[in-house]
Amino acid sequence: MIFDTHTHYDDEAFDRDRDELLRGMSEDGVEFIVNVGASIDSTRKTLELARKYSFIYAAIGVHPSETGGMTREDLSWLKERAAEPKVVAIGEIGLDYYWSDPDKAIQKKWFEEQLQLAGETGLPIIVHSRDAAQDTLEILKGWQSKKTRGVIHCFSYTREMAREYLNMDYYFGIGGVLTFKNAKKLIEAVEYIPMNRILLETDCPYLAPEPYRGKRNQSTYIDFVAERLAEIKKISKEEVFTITMENAKEFYFRKQ
Ligand code: NI
Repeated sequence: MIFDTHTHYDDEAFDRDRDELLRGMSEDGVEFIVNVGASIDSTRKTLELARKYSFIYAAIGVHPSETGGMTREDLSWLKERAAEPKVVAIGEIGLDYYWSDPDKAIQKKWFEEQLQLAGETGLPIIVHSRDAAQDTLEILKGWQSKKTRGVIHCFSYTREMAREYLNMDYYFGIGGVLTFKNAKKLIEAVEYIPMNRILLETDCPYLAPEPYRGKRNQSTYIDFVAERLAEIKKISKEEVFTITMENAKEFYFRKQ
């Protein structure tokens, strides 16, 4: 059974067949989905999906690239929403220096404000970090004392960076990139990360695994990621599903 720990089914890429696709999920072996907010608007849509589908849970938050217009009112609104029963995490939050806008100071400010929110609510965090390894690590190290679980979503850094996060007891979101031909660095990191710290994710509609690379991604394609992970870890695909299901339940459903 599949637990897709990071999706964006609110994305317009699913506008034409969202309900049809989601209604078929359980038949295709998808047991749980966490849909992740990336802006205030997508957080609102994420909450609607969680209210509509029993197997969809919500992560609420504002992605670093969307923090340009973020306000204190948005933050209070997120705090109110955090009390809804199906809200299981704050995310995705973090730093994205691949894009130069909004500038670093603004991204950092709202990353820290949303970390604070996670600390106050006791919810786990989903961290988006792209081309910002050092600053992300620094901020999270400073915040570590709060004792909230965290996952580095779509982990794309080195083995050395993985060690830093393992020392802080973080989880690692692993998805379609693992199946790409140029995934050498990620494979080295994944060889090093213990199985009990891996969460399977699609980030759909983005990052579809081979053989669907470049196409619209969906939760059932996690099968290809699990297959690749099984090869790398030299265990069966069934074991991969069993262990990562336990990890995801522990991460999202266990109360602090
Ligand atoms: Ni995402």
